[in-house]
Amino acid sequence: MKNFKNKVAAITGAGSGMGQQLAILLAKAGCHLSISDVNEKGLAETVELVRQYDVRVTSKKVNVAKQQEVKAWAEESVQNHGSVNMIFNNAGVALGATVEGETYEELEWIVGINFWGVVYGTKEFLPYIKKTGDGHIINTSSIFGLTAQPTQSGYNATKFAVRGFTESLRQELDIEKCGVSALCVHPGGIRTNIANDARMNDSLKSLGMNPDKSAKAFNKLLRKPAVEAAQEILDAVLADKRRLLIGGDAVIVDLAQRLLPTGYQKFATMATKLTKRFEPK
Ligand SMILES: NC(=O)c1ccc[n+]([C@@H]2O[C@H](COP(=O)([O-])OP(=O)(O)OC[C@H]3O[C@@H](n4cnc5c(N)ncnc54)[C@H](O)[C@@H]3O)[C@@H](O)[C@H]2O)c1
Repeated sequence: MKNFKNKVAAITGAGSGMGQQLAILLAKAGCHLSISDVNEKGLAETVELVRQYDVRVTSKKVNVAKQQEVKAWAEESVQNHGSVNMIFNNAGVALGATVEGETYEELEWIVGINFWGVVYGTKEFLPYIKKTGDGHIINTSSIFGLTAQPTQSGYNATKFAVRGFTESLRQELDIEKCGVSALCVHPGGIRTNIANDARMNDSLKSLGMNPDKSAKAFNKLLRKPAVEAAQEILDAVLADKRRLLIGGDAVIVDLAQRLLPTGYQKFATMATKLTKRFEPK
C-alpha cells in the first residue's frame, strides 16, 4: 500500500488509546473509516474527533469476542463504504493474576477478546480485503507476545498466539501474492487506558503485590504517547514490515529474548518484584 488516501480502514477498539489515534491519523490522511468498540461513549468521542476531516465515517458497537457481531460489522462496513482495505485488530484488555489464582472465566474473557477477537476480525474481513487487491491486516500483539512475565499468563498466552497467527497469515499471503499483507505490532509501554481498565485478581497478593494499587504502578511504565505509537503503526504498514516494535523498551525486550531465550525470565521476575515499589503508598 503506497498511501491511505481514499482507502477504507476498519478499526476495533477505536474508542480509546491507540485505536482512537489510528482513527484520527488515518482520517487526516484521507482514509474513510469504519470504527467499532464495545464502549459506545469512547466511540462517540472518536467520531467527534474525526468529524473535521473530509472522510466518510461509520461507527458501530461491536464486541470483538462475538463472532456474529464481527461478521455483521464486516458485512455492514462493505455495504456502507463499498469496500474495505484494512482491518486494525487493535481491541484488547489486560489481566493481572497468578496461574493458580486466575479463574477460568477470567481466562475465557481475555482469550475471547485478545485472541478470538483478532481471529474473527482477520477471518471476517479477509475475503473483502482480498477483493480490493490492495489491503493490509494489522494485528496488535505486545512485547508480552515476545517474552513472558509473572502475573501475565493470560495476557502472554493471547499475545503469543496473536503473533503466531499473524506470522503464519503473512506467509500465506506472501505465497498467494493477492495484494494483501499482514503486520504484527508489538508495542512497549504506551500511555493509554489499558492499565486503568485491567482486571486485577486478588491472587496477586500471593506474590506480595496489591491488586488495588498495581494498575497504578503499571501505569507508570506506560510512557510513550499513543499518537506516536499510532504513527509508527501506519508507517510500518506503508513500509510493509512484518513486525513492528514500538518504543525503546520493546527493542530491549526483543534483544533480551534473542540473547537470553530463557535466561530473560530472571530479569522479568526481578522487574515484577520492582513494580511493587511503584505502588502508591
Ligand atoms: N498500552 C500499552 O502499553 C500496550 C502495550 C502492548 C500492547 N497493547 C495492546 O494495544 C491494543 C490497544 O490497547 P490500548 O493500549 O490502546 O488500550 P485502551 O484501553 O486505551 O484501548 C483498548 C480499547 O479496546 C476496547 N475493547 C475492550 N474490550 C473490547 C471488546 N470486547 N470488543 C471491542 N472493543 C473492546 C476498549 O473499550 C478500548 O476502547 C490492545 O490490544 C493492547 O493489548 C497495549
